[in-house]
Amino acid sequence: MSSFNHFSTPTLPAQQPHNISALRDTLRQQMQRCRAATLRLFEGDDLFRQQAHPDFSPSGWHLGHIGYTESLWLRERLAGLPPADHRVLFAQDGLPKAERQNLPAIAIIQAYLAHIRQDVLDYLEQAPLERQARLWWFLLQHESQHGETIAMVHWLQRRDNQAVPQPPALPGHGQPLATPEAQMVQIPAGPFSMGSDDPWVGLDNEGPAHLCPVAEYWIDRYPVTCRQYRQFMDAGGYQTSRWWSPEGWQWRQQRQISQPLYWQDGPPWDNSPVYGVSWYEADAYARYAGKRLPTEAEWEKAALWSPVTGRSQPYPWGAASPAAHHGNYGHRLGAPTPVNAFPAGASPSGCMDMLGNVWEWTSSPFLPYDKFKAYPYQGYSQTYFDGDHYVLRGGSWATQQWCLRPTFRNWYTREVRQLFCGFRCVRNAADSPTL
Ligand code: AVJ
Ligand code: FE
Repeated sequence: MSSFNHFSTPTLPAQQPHNISALRDTLRQQMQRCRAATLRLFEGDDLFRQQAHPDFSPSGWHLGHIGYTESLWLRERLAGLPPADHRVLFAQDGLPKAERQNLPAIAIIQAYLAHIRQDVLDYLEQAPLERQARLWWFLLQHESQHGETIAMVHWLQRRDNQAVPQPPALPGHGQPLATPEAQMVQIPAGPFSMGSDDPWVGLDNEGPAHLCPVAEYWIDRYPVTCRQYRQFMDAGGYQTSRWWSPEGWQWRQQRQISQPLYWQDGPPWDNSPVYGVSWYEADAYARYAGKRLPTEAEWEKAALWSPVTGRSQPYPWGAASPAAHHGNYGHRLGAPTPVNAFPAGASPSGCMDMLGNVWEWTSSPFLPYDKFKAYPYQGYSQTYFDGDHYVLRGGSWATQQWCLRPTFRNWYTREVRQLFCGFRCVRNAADSPTL
């Protein structure tokens, strides 16, 4: 956390609300909503000290880290107040993951967050937001990303305790949904505007926006469903080396696995997306199906680019902020839903479930766009531009609104399968367009 760039953020552009007091109200409300969502995750969490997996810290650690990080940036750096307690325990570079289980009671951690938050809200009343808004939005997104990791830790623990999730009831769906047909849509060749220049909300790795050339391709209308993935398993997918990349097959041979981490068989899940798969498993399925994983540019163009206007739009459905009928996100439903459950969320090209339900692996390593500028510290994204991390897009049922947008780039290494992540496939236009 060395170089601190917030002073280089632009002042409010003309189209943003000039009204700083409206921005202040919005930020206060959003911070309170985000915090309420975080705290709800801990209702009934009596395993908050348990490390469910070596790659993931205990849920209670994430809570403390949310508070510590908010204090570091908003309370210390902006408000000039003294550092919060528990730096060693809760800083990202404090303790190794395996040593983060010695935590205070959850009520103590919550009081720690509340104390920091009170100072931060007091400061917000007179903060020069025209210079600082980007940092405030960053902290909101930081908290909501850790909220999703907390939800993942809970999911891992439920799995270990064989507490099987039930399919969520879909509000507004009186009739049973039709079976989603395996379909692909064609995206014509041509450049599109990729990434985001949003001066406040976009994270450093999302910009600068740039024209990206893309050849013609076909992309799955839906994420790959459990029914489709079962066919891969039944065809001996986990035993057939020719469908795997060399690294993937090596990964597969090093462990006894024959199904996704969160695999649940049976009709209630047939039309839901497969999830809990590593990049290697997603890549193997794609080869089995005669397809490949999309590049992140192909994914984003299918989500945002309109064949009618020839331009990218802010969301798959248009410019409106996400609402409940657009998709399964924000932890409202608590589990994946059928891939055709949210027709109102369709993209201009006809792709469904681009936002929410499950993250989607892409074939792209996580790398900076041209003229990338780190924010708010050098290592937020830069540390992970190492060729080992791959980009996931689209958010999951547990992604909160603050990180739900098609330009948002998540990243993990290829063997990670603890995420709420699935995938969809593409095919080159030159290859047979049979579905
Ligand atoms: C982008 C979700 C992989 O949680 O490790 C949180 C985001 N960076 N705190 C993570 C992040 C610093 C990151 N992911
Ligand atoms: Fe963090």
